[in-house]
Amino acid sequence: MERVILNSLKDTEKFAKKIAKTFVGGEVVLLSGDLGAGKTTLTKYILKSLGVKDDVSSPTFTIMKEYKGKKFDIYHFDMYRLSSGVEAQEFGLEDYIYSGSDKSIVFIEWAENIKDILKGEFLKIEIKLLDNNVRELFVKRESFV
Ligand SMILES: Nc1ncnc2c1ncn2[C@@H]1O[C@H](COP(=O)(O)OP(=O)(O)O)[C@@H](O)[C@H]1O
Ligand SMILES: [Mg+2]
Repeated sequence: MERVILNSLKDTEKFAKKIAKTFVGGEVVLLSGDLGAGKTTLTKYILKSLGVKDDVSSPTFTIMKEYKGKKFDIYHFDMYRLSSGVEAQEFGLEDYIYSGSDKSIVFIEWAENIKDILKGEFLKIEIKLLDNNVRELFVKRESFV
């Protein structure tokens, strides 16, 4: 597990670049942390690093937004309004997560709401907002069976 401290948006951008460079395709990134922790903001910067030119905004109301990066098709989910994995299945989430495609990268905010259906390997990023705009990140690979 890696622990990272972010003191500013600049730090977030730097960290996003570093993470984006490690992607080979097929990654599923789970973002957890309270409302306002910075999940969407971090995702925005990672997408920017992956070559997404469009504005990235929170998919809270649409559940999913799709982007084209330089190398990857990117799917950004927000499960805030869902209360079980079944609802995500109805949405077709598994087609995105288990596509087996090395052309896609999936980001899921509030994945804890649907964890009953998550199986396989994930990159988990947990964000905690400490005092004075300082953010603490825990990054780890996680597998659910
Ligand atoms: N690293 C950061 N430094 C300063 N402000 C940040 C940082 N990350 C997020 N914010 C700010 O916090 C607010 C909430 O962020 P957001 O990414 O929408 O949170 P979440 O998706 O976790 O609910 C936004 O106004 C955003 O600009
Ligand atoms: Mg968000």
